[in-house]
Amino acid sequence: MAETKDIIKLEDMVKIYDTGAIKVLGLNRINLSIKHGEFVAIMGHSGSGKSTLLNILGCLDRPTLGHYYLDGIDVAQMSGDELSRVRNQKIGFVFQSFNLISRMSIQKNVEVPMTYAKIKPDKRRKRAIELLEMVGLGERINHEPNELSGGQRQRVAIARALANKPPLILADEPTGNLDSQASIEIMELFAKLHKEGSTVVVVTHEDNIAAYTHRILTFKDGVLQSDRINEKPTPFGENVGLGDRKS
Ligand SMILES: Nc1ncnc2c1ncn2[C@@H]1O[C@H](COP(=O)(O)OP(=O)(O)O)[C@@H](O)[C@H]1O
Ligand SMILES: [Mg+2]
Repeated sequence: MAETKDIIKLEDMVKIYDTGAIKVLGLNRINLSIKHGEFVAIMGHSGSGKSTLLNILGCLDRPTLGHYYLDGIDVAQMSGDELSRVRNQKIGFVFQSFNLISRMSIQKNVEVPMTYAKIKPDKRRKRAIELLEMVGLGERINHEPNELSGGQRQRVAIARALANKPPLILADEPTGNLDSQASIEIMELFAKLHKEGSTVVVVTHEDNIAAYTHRILTFKDGVLQSDRINEKPTPFGENVGLGDRKS
């Protein structure tokens, strides 16, 4: 049984992709614990298993072998419906390509996870607006994603990830499509969420992005190669300008 203070605990976790003709080893015997409130970076070259790990942590995929305890519950034992519910309540996922719904206002985009959680329309609207204000987009709630810059779209995606107040925020190369200023703003936002108590796990291959976090895991060829504490995380709150910038 996993200790309750671990929000994530992997035991000898293996992921094999079975494509029919060939089997690909995505991750090989990963043992890893992450406590509530940690701020962690996952690094490694392309193909090292970062996305495979994040998809499993986010309950978008399941381990082939071994265990994944999310908040003490063995995810491998859950049915598809249970898994969707857990994902909706416990996890906020942020993608490199934002994955917003086009031709829908950003306010409606942020409401989507709350609709699945059966939150009443009034409450949903209020919370979506609050979240968009929090990420500096309060003046643009009726805009559609294609009217916003990449950095702004990613802030919408973060607001959406936070909709159901999940304890765990996972982001797969969230700054991969952004310029350096927008990347800083996104990392400042994650640092703020971490400070407010969220557990945040960010995949990146950029050192200056990982530098914001407090712990850096490095993967190589599907194996956890190193796990180190970042003694001097980049200070935040200084570069921030989450105003309604044009760019
Ligand atoms: N859906 C899939 N089917 C088959 N192989 C996959 C699939 N997804 C990832 N892989 C393989 O698993 C390994 C790890 O990939 P991935 O987790 O995407 O790496 P990263 O995110 O670090 O670039 C790679 O060898 C990749 O080709
Ligand atoms: Mg990847």
